[in-house]
Amino acid sequence: MCGIIGCVGRDDATLDTLVHGLSTLEYRGYDSAGVATASNSVDVVKTSGKIEELRETLEGAALTGDVGIGHTRWSTHGPPTDANSHPHQDCTGDVAVVHNGIIENYQHLRDELAASGHTFTSDTDTEVIPHLVEDQLAEGAEPERAIRNAVSRLEGSYAVAVVVAGHGTVYAARNDSPLVLGLGEDETFLASDVPAFRDYTDQVVYLDDGEFARLEDKGWTVTTLDGDPVEKDVDTIDWDPEETGKSGYDHYMLKEIHEQPRALRQCLRGRVDEMAGTVTIEDVGDLSPDGVQFVACGTSYHAALYGAQLFRDAGIPAQAFLASEYVTSVPPLSDALVVGVTQSGETADTLSALRTARKRGVKTLAVTNVVGSTAARECNHAFYIRAGPEIGVAASKTFSTQQVALNQLALSMTDADATREIISALRDLPSNVQRILDESTARSVAETYENADAYFFIGRGYQYPVALEGALKMKEITYKHAEGFASGELKHGPLALVTENTPVFAVVTGDDEQARKIVGNVKEVEARDAPVVAISDGQSDVSRYADHVLEIPETHPRTAAVLANTHLQLVAYHVANLFGHNIDKPRNLAKSVTVE
Ligand code: F6R
Repeated sequence: MCGIIGCVGRDDATLDTLVHGLSTLEYRGYDSAGVATASNSVDVVKTSGKIEELRETLEGAALTGDVGIGHTRWSTHGPPTDANSHPHQDCTGDVAVVHNGIIENYQHLRDELAASGHTFTSDTDTEVIPHLVEDQLAEGAEPERAIRNAVSRLEGSYAVAVVVAGHGTVYAARNDSPLVLGLGEDETFLASDVPAFRDYTDQVVYLDDGEFARLEDKGWTVTTLDGDPVEKDVDTIDWDPEETGKSGYDHYMLKEIHEQPRALRQCLRGRVDEMAGTVTIEDVGDLSPDGVQFVACGTSYHAALYGAQLFRDAGIPAQAFLASEYVTSVPPLSDALVVGVTQSGETADTLSALRTARKRGVKTLAVTNVVGSTAARECNHAFYIRAGPEIGVAASKTFSTQQVALNQLALSMTDADATREIISALRDLPSNVQRILDESTARSVAETYENADAYFFIGRGYQYPVALEGALKMKEITYKHAEGFASGELKHGPLALVTENTPVFAVVTGDDEQARKIVGNVKEVEARDAPVVAISDGQSDVSRYADHVLEIPETHPRTAAVLANTHLQLVAYHVANLFGHNIDKPRNLAKSVTVE
């Protein structure tokens, strides 16, 4: 996920407009940034680091031109270096491009372009675009046609903005990555999100997939990629510029919960072939370990518990360890692969466990969200969950993308009988999560139980880590007591805590023996007068014993875990919101824990 801005007609204010726009988009990525302006030539300034560093780099830089584009990056291909920062240029320097998304066929295009003499200066997938445009221009195409032709060769997701020397136009195209036009008087804008230009106009046009836009100071057009005109509605934004960054959501956490369908799609993109029934993941090589040991902390540990079960179910011995405990008594390693699951890639406990494993000579793999993070650099291999930046301290979209990434990892290393069935459940997951986001009654559950003494969460199998995660989310943002249990454990002690003022959230999916056992555990708490909130796909008869049911669509038990978790994220969020807590920055907590 990256942020794009473009503007035409801002005259002397062009550079300020670009940099201000990028600062409102920093939530979309913040590992490098850059701008390009076009007049008779194209000038580019870019740097690794945050927008503040771009501002410093721009001091004294002589950029001219009242047409410009800018970009704030969240790395997907290549670490966050100056060279990998956007905009990227062609060999002549006359074309500059910014891009958000992932170009799946970039390697093929890059090989082809390199073979015909183009020189590449970065590791990015994006850089193929200016070179494709360059070829088209060299063949005599006008810029608009050149860019349309170039873009039609791309496979994958993209929001692209382009400037060309000698042309007072910003060109843009969209496929599965957002772009919106802003319409001012004698000036036009383009951005990944409205806050980037909300200070200048409230008139907007949302681009749809497969559309191409041309922006000039006195006008704009939208066509298909083939050049057929498209009629677009102009919408008026009714919120004010102060509500920026969160795209209208009250908190980053709520926004990030709602970003899950997109994040999951991004995580799946290009890795899963449903027709062939295969999963291929880049950069991991041919790993076929005898066993897998996961090391992780907090939410990532819950994803690791889930991941270990995926491997065990595929016949590979696997265990999840709390990273901080792993180092106190390292288990026998033999030919194990040690997998660090870490959103930030910077968590000290996880890094320490991974370093311990490496010192003992075993292979390590980082499953992380941050390209170029310490874990990604230090491990033998890195596998990216592609969730985009997460600003809220409480992990939400990164947990669900970790779950999906670990499914991909397990499927890529094993020959599971049910691969096709799982792939199809993964394919349906983003739309099923969207359905829950649209229909969940979590808010009314939160209102009913906001004054509970404590909250308990129970689950079995794939739903056990979800119970743990539901409780962690509840405690960290509501500051109320919450515990997650394997439902079979309830009767071995925790049942003593259950009263009529301790709601029990029970995740029950399917109607097999496991489901029947957990329904039995639900009856045990119901008999002690505890309110029961069932998270159910409707297959078992748990609703007979529940005070509330949070429904999930019928799916594979693995993907049911992601869906159930979405409801629990929302319940925790709404309880915390009723208390008026600082949800994005819970007390005593930090996003990246760099001490052991
Ligand atoms: C909880 C949360 C933390 C992190 C943990 C590990 O919402 O975010 O429990 O999961 O600190 O962080 P990473 O995944 O960055 O290693």
